Amino acid sequence: MKVDVLLGLQWGDEGKGKVVDVLTPRYDVVARFQGGPNAGHTLEFEGQKYVLRSIPSGIFQGDKVNIIGNGVVLDPALFKAEAEALEAAGHNLKERLFISKKAHLIMPTHRILDAAYEAAKGEEKVGTTGKGIGPTYTDKVSRNGLRVGDILGHFGEKYAQAKKRHEQTLQSLNFEYDLTELEQTWFEGIEYLKNFNLVDSEHEINNLLYVGKKVLCEGAQGTMLDVDFGSYPFVTSSNTVCAGACTGLGIAPNRIGEVYGIFKAYCTRVGAGPFPTELFDKVGDQICTLGHEFGSVTGRKRRCGWIDLVALKYSIMINGVTKLIMMKSDVLDSFATINACIAYEMDGKEIDYFPYDINDSVKPVYVELAGWETDMTKMKSEDEFPEEFNSYLTFLEEQLGVDIVIVSLGPDRAQTIERYTEE
Ligand code: GDP
Ligand code: IMO
Ligand code: MG
Repeated sequence: MKVDVLLGLQWGDEGKGKVVDVLTPRYDVVARFQGGPNAGHTLEFEGQKYVLRSIPSGIFQGDKVNIIGNGVVLDPALFKAEAEALEAAGHNLKERLFISKKAHLIMPTHRILDAAYEAAKGEEKVGTTGKGIGPTYTDKVSRNGLRVGDILGHFGEKYAQAKKRHEQTLQSLNFEYDLTELEQTWFEGIEYLKNFNLVDSEHEINNLLYVGKKVLCEGAQGTMLDVDFGSYPFVTSSNTVCAGACTGLGIAPNRIGEVYGIFKAYCTRVGAGPFPTELFDKVGDQICTLGHEFGSVTGRKRRCGWIDLVALKYSIMINGVTKLIMMKSDVLDSFATINACIAYEMDGKEIDYFPYDINDSVKPVYVELAGWETDMTKMKSEDEFPEEFNSYLTFLEEQLGVDIVIVSLGPDRAQTIERYTEE
């Protein structure tokens, strides 16, 4: 069997959680392959709203297997809080959630280091989610990390060694901190974690594929936050791109089937870093208000702007996207006109690619399209789409070269319209 991958094409928060939940009935397994509790994936159905951070978004649809892969970094304290809230709401996790023993653990001192490094950067800070993501991946790559599987062995000594190393760094940065409460909830989290299926998830997933099970891999963050291909250094610390599904789950590249690339009908970014189509005017505020663009993890206001087709084309190329999914077009329902960035102007020249040295001198080149000025949130079929909206879809498909197979018209599971279903 092939595995399908669903991932964000912009700067995160595209609506991955919602669509994974919508697609889950077609799969047997949903697996997260990178990132950690920096993610906030929102799902809404039957009047309920959930925000998932580390647990895959397939957890609500029947008895599907959900896997937290080796590429993920896990904070036991946050995981416990997230899992207990789901269990309290009647969702049994222990039978169907598998966690890789090779996933790395976010320690309390990783979170403090995240804050300390940001403080040291001052004006240049990344604006991280403060969850210890960077320091944990740093320890992984420098071969100093603690893994989930370690908690089943002689864990105390390894923990103490890592903590000591982190504390030396914190001292050298003159950073004040208090670990007492963080450590207590963390160790409670470790004990809680032991109740779960801690597995070699690469075997688990390949065995499932061998017997014909269908797997959907759920990305976190977005391509423009990828550590290699994003707007470095204003990125996260993992490979958010399709290749990350291979390394983060132990899936061979020739197993990849469909690659679902998901994007908003406009663009947002939370945290610092370049954002060529960012709007600083009333329109930006309007998108922010209508789209409720506030971070699901940190509550921070998201920066808003027009859709950026230069960045989207780049993301589609890097990921080998085979199907596109457009989210949140309802946010633009009341707009008379809509802009789409088709190129950048840099040093007096027009370019159609995402440049290495992207900075404030890069200006978007826009085309203006007619808005549809229709409330689409209750529509049930594409037959109801206004003409201008169809023109917008056609324009995007021509520009991007990939079909838009799903259009999302609201946060609820039910506000989702599929296209090209006859194939
Ligand atoms: P993720 O991180 O990619 O899963 O996205 P987030 O959950 O962080 O952010 C997406 C936000 O938009 C959430 O609040 C969703 O409930 C909401 N959302 C998802 N799809 C739509 C849509 O089509 N229209 C509107 N208005 N909101 C949506
Ligand atoms: P989901 O999965 C949006 C951003 C942070 C910061 C940068 C680095 O919900 O789409 P980190 O804490 O990862 O070291 O922060 O990445 N960021 C996200 N932005 N959505 C996310 O996840 C994000 N995860 C990290 O704001 O700019
Ligand atoms: Mg999010």
